Amino acid sequence: MIWIDDRLVPESSASVSYMDRGYYFGDGIYEVFRVYGGRMYEADAHYERLERSAREIGLKLPYTRKETDAILVSLIEREKARNATIYMQVTRGVAPRSHAFPAGAKPVMMAYCNDTPRPTPTMEKGITAITRPDIRWLRCDLKTLNLLGSVLAKQEAAELGADDVILHRDGVVTECSASNLIIVKDGALHTHPADHLILHGITRAVVLRLARERGVEVRERPFTLEELRKADEAFLTSTIMEITPIVQIDGLPVGGGEPGPFTHRLQHDFEATIPHN
Ligand code: PDD
Repeated sequence: MIWIDDRLVPESSASVSYMDRGYYFGDGIYEVFRVYGGRMYEADAHYERLERSAREIGLKLPYTRKETDAILVSLIEREKARNATIYMQVTRGVAPRSHAFPAGAKPVMMAYCNDTPRPTPTMEKGITAITRPDIRWLRCDLKTLNLLGSVLAKQEAAELGADDVILHRDGVVTECSASNLIIVKDGALHTHPADHLILHGITRAVVLRLARERGVEVRERPFTLEELRKADEAFLTSTIMEITPIVQIDGLPVGGGEPGPFTHRLQHDFEATIPHN
C-alpha cells in the first residue's frame, strides 16, 4: 500500500501527475525512517530534520507532525512490518512548468513501508569504496530530492566494482553517497562537521553520542584524503546501513584491511539502542 496525495491506495493504482514539481525540478524533500520490531527508530529526529528541510526550501508540509506520524504508523501496521524502512517524500505539488513557486499548488506526500533486513553481512565483513569529487550543490544539509551528484558517483563505484563512494571537495572529505563517514585515528573519531556540506545524519549523531559516552574523543572537523588513507579504521553510518566498516579505499586496505575494534565497539553499543522484539 502507498500513501499518496491524502489517501492509502494499492501500489498498482498509485500514480503521480506529469506536472508534479518533484518530477520536473526535484522540487521536494524526503526522509528514510528505520523500523525495528515494528517501531520507528529516532522518529522525532527524523521529523525535526524533515521540518527543517521543508522550512529551508519554503515548503509547507501538508500535515502536522502528529498527522504524519499517524499515517506512517498506519503503514507499519498495514504491512505488519517488523524490520523495515519507511520512505516518505513531499513535493511542492502539481503545476505547469515554471521555476518560481506556483501560487496555490498543494504539496504532495508519498510514503510506503518496505521490509528491510538488518545489514548484518556487510556490518560484519565491511565494504569497499572509491573516492570521487563531490559535485553536489551547497545545501547538502537538506534532504532534498535532487540526488544526481550522489547517483553519478555511486554509479561510477558500481562500474568499478566498489560498494560505495567517498566524496571530497578539493581533497577535503565530506561524506558518502547516501551515508556519513567517520574515521578512527590514534583512538579518536574524526568526521566532517555538521554544516551545509553534509547531511546531518541521525545515525551519525547517535554514534557520536555513544562514542562520547564511552569517553572516546570525537573531533568534528574537516579532514583530507591523505588523512583518510592513513586512518586506522573507517566506517559509514546511515539509517539503512547502520554502522558499516569500510575495509578498502581505492584498492588499498584501511588499517589492517578488516573491521577494527572501535567500529566493533560502536556497533555493539548501537545494538543496545535498538528496541528488540
Ligand atoms: N541516506 N548522508 C547522505 C548524503 C544521506 O543521503 C544519508 C541518508 C546520510 C545518513 O543519514 P541518516 O543516518 O539520518 O540516515 C548521510 C538515506 C538513508 C537515503 O537516501 O537512502
